[in-house]
Amino acid sequence: MQAPPTMKAVVQNSYGLDALTVTDQPAPMVGPAQIRIKVSASSVNPMDWHLATGSPEIVHLVEGFRRPKHAIPGREACGVIDQLGAGVTDFEIGQPVFGWLTGGFAEYAVAEAARMSATPSGTAEAECAAMPIAGATALEAVERGKVEGKRVVVNGASGGVGHFAVQIAKAFGANRVAGVCSSKNADFVRGLGADEVIAYDAEDFTSQQWDVVIDCVGNRTGSEIRGALVSDGRWVVVGDNNKEGLLGPAPRLLARLARWQFGSRTCHWFVQGEEGRYLKDLAALVAEGAVRTHLSETIDLAEVRTGYDRIEAGRTVGKLAINVDLTRNGARDQTIDRPEVST
Ligand SMILES: NC(=O)c1ccc[n+]([C@@H]2O[C@H](COP(=O)([O-])OP(=O)(O)OC[C@H]3O[C@@H](n4cnc5c(N)ncnc54)[C@H](OP(=O)(O)O)[C@@H]3O)[C@@H](O)[C@H]2O)c1
Repeated sequence: MQAPPTMKAVVQNSYGLDALTVTDQPAPMVGPAQIRIKVSASSVNPMDWHLATGSPEIVHLVEGFRRPKHAIPGREACGVIDQLGAGVTDFEIGQPVFGWLTGGFAEYAVAEAARMSATPSGTAEAECAAMPIAGATALEAVERGKVEGKRVVVNGASGGVGHFAVQIAKAFGANRVAGVCSSKNADFVRGLGADEVIAYDAEDFTSQQWDVVIDCVGNRTGSEIRGALVSDGRWVVVGDNNKEGLLGPAPRLLARLARWQFGSRTCHWFVQGEEGRYLKDLAALVAEGAVRTHLSETIDLAEVRTGYDRIEAGRTVGKLAINVDLTRNGARDQTIDRPEVST
């Protein structure tokens, strides 16, 4: 059996953003029902920030008590298949794919074949790489909103999930889509196809009536949202701004779900299930020109910490991508730290 190639990878041996370093590692080898990809790009999401910082504390229970159980972070990527595991019949070597995995901040990564999909042709790798998490979340939110013919408002429309949600709600036949963002991002959100932009620093979206609220921020109370919904309105909760405590937003969200069992207005909170069909549907929307990933920044692998800092600041416009293809800019020669990976 061939020895695995050496690769550059971001490694994290303890919680905290200062623990992120780039080092040489053996590339992972493929197992049954898996594919290995030569990664071209990845992206940073709020989930990566939670996993890296161990915040809220429940992350330690689920993802490793003392250190992240996956030493190489990065939960989505785009790349070209270079190994097929036993039983994988629907992909071929050399095929460009995108999807969810662990270890995406590295030159090679292994993914379950069922969690990857062919990239839509003619789409930049970095745009595909930054789509699985935010795009599938937006797609599920729009589906749960049942938006066809409805007046929809997307709170947080300039962010990763929100900018996809605006585009997908339009594609799914919403009657009117309004995007809530700061004044500085109004043109960006208008450019996504929003029929209306509500700048939260000048106007309050809850002063109007909506059929569907897709909430990617979670900064409004249940009674404020209730007052902004028509009698059979739907509140689709994507994100929540409470990141603290043992369980983060979970207790508040669960209590809210219980309260919203009563009455005609409904509340829908979900954790995106990462099923392959979302990738296929996203690829189809991209191919027909209905959806596009808008990248505000592309960061080289060695600078990955900058990506986490951007997510922490909460001001990302569209998505940011991590360039993992180190041959593209000579980044292979950069000086980097070389700690050991704990096993
Ligand atoms: N349920 C799930 O399965 C799931 C999956 C993925 C993500 N999420 C959650 O969804 C949330 C959004 O994720 P994301 O990737 O879109 O985050 P993101 O890209 O980091 O969001 C940044 C955006 O939020 C906007 N924003 C901040 N404060 C705002 C406010 N008060 N009103 C309106 N917009 C505001 C910012 O716009 P301005 O600069 O204009 O303020 C910025 O464009 C996060 O909480 C994340 O954890 C949930």
